Amino acid sequence: MSGRRRFLQQFGATAGAFSVHSLFNQLHASEISSANHLVRDMSATKVAAQEDYWSVIQQAYTVNPNIINLNNGGVSPSPRVVQEAVDRYNKLANEGPSYFMWEVLDQGREPLREKLAELAGCNKEEIVINRNATESLNTIIFGLDLKTGDEVIGCKLDYPNHMNAWRQRALRDGIVYKQLSFNFPIENDEEIVAAYEKAITPKTKVIHITHVINWVGQIMPVKKISAMGHKHGLQVVCDGAHSFGLLDFKIPDLGCDYFATSLHKFLSAPIGSGMMWIKQEHISKIWPLLGNGDPRSTNIRKFETLGTRSFPIEQGIGEAINFQLAIGSKRKEERVRYLKNYWAEQVINTPKVSIKTSLKAPYSCAICGVQIEGMSPADLGRTLFSKYKIHTVAIEYESVKCVRVTPHVYTRLPELDKFARAIKEIAATVK
Ligand SMILES: Cc1ncc(COP(=O)(O)O)c(C=O)c1O
Repeated sequence: MSGRRRFLQQFGATAGAFSVHSLFNQLHASEISSANHLVRDMSATKVAAQEDYWSVIQQAYTVNPNIINLNNGGVSPSPRVVQEAVDRYNKLANEGPSYFMWEVLDQGREPLREKLAELAGCNKEEIVINRNATESLNTIIFGLDLKTGDEVIGCKLDYPNHMNAWRQRALRDGIVYKQLSFNFPIENDEEIVAAYEKAITPKTKVIHITHVINWVGQIMPVKKISAMGHKHGLQVVCDGAHSFGLLDFKIPDLGCDYFATSLHKFLSAPIGSGMMWIKQEHISKIWPLLGNGDPRSTNIRKFETLGTRSFPIEQGIGEAINFQLAIGSKRKEERVRYLKNYWAEQVINTPKVSIKTSLKAPYSCAICGVQIEGMSPADLGRTLFSKYKIHTVAIEYESVKCVRVTPHVYTRLPELDKFARAIKEIAATVK
């Protein structure tokens, strides 16, 4: 046996965290295994502050080292192991698309459904693999049997694509779409639940709730709202675009009826990958968005009649799940929350600076808004990029005015120190 092969086998024996098609991934999987071993007896909140551990995770990403990306809420990069999988599958598909896609790569869809179901803590017969949260929510919103006069309750800080879908149903079918207003942060679940309950009338059929409000990162009490909604005989749709792969929960524990997410956000799956969950008893009642030969079927696959799609992207999701499992969902949640608090606590007492998100664990994780008095969010966002090369997103929407900041597991503390310094310097220059 050659020295190189023996070397690889030796590392392969301790690896196992994810696929090891390249030397880097083989060594890195082994490093993650060793790092996991070193922190195995620590609580997730303690591991959150172990820089040696997270430096191993940071190595998995190939992000530009000169630009600080703090908009992982928009879309997140994939680790190298996921990128390489997509490249491999793409090369394979192009060796003979109809054979390698439909007869080889397609064999991976059912195992992938199983993996996703395991991560989500649900039955695989409730999981749809698709392209993003928008596709999932449009499927649910347009698939529900609702008639003229039926009411749906959402909030003004839900995601625009889905508010538009409900508005389209209102125009087309005469349903009534009501939207609540909230002034986040709110550190009181009961206040939020009560606002939804107060809006219910005998005509209300559905509550649409965003698990993590994308504008300011508020974590909504989905479980409590679902329990309240069910008491009134309503169905609950949950937009989990920013929660799945970040917060440590199992979908059925939320108590909702429908759950939608994008896997290219916190799960770091290939860009253009999503998932929908429909509670088994509802599957037959939801019309597929794209026509299917048996639209009232109880088979969840009736929602996957998309035609030719990117098999490499879809199959790459499997590596993102492996990577997630190698870290552990609870550890990831606590680390990202730690990173958010790390920068926010540095600036919170700076004159003219205000934080727009609760720093208490039950109410936020990754996303946090910051504003400087006397400066528009657009100007702040522009200054952060032009002067410091820090990428964030400026938000001026409904009641929200801030720059939204979202770190991810690959974010390094010195980058957050630089960001906090930048905020203080900019605030000091505002008259
Ligand atoms: C709360 C929320 N829901 C849904 C979406 C839509 O995600 P996608 O563009 O991946 O469909 C987003 C996008 O940022 C979002 O913030």
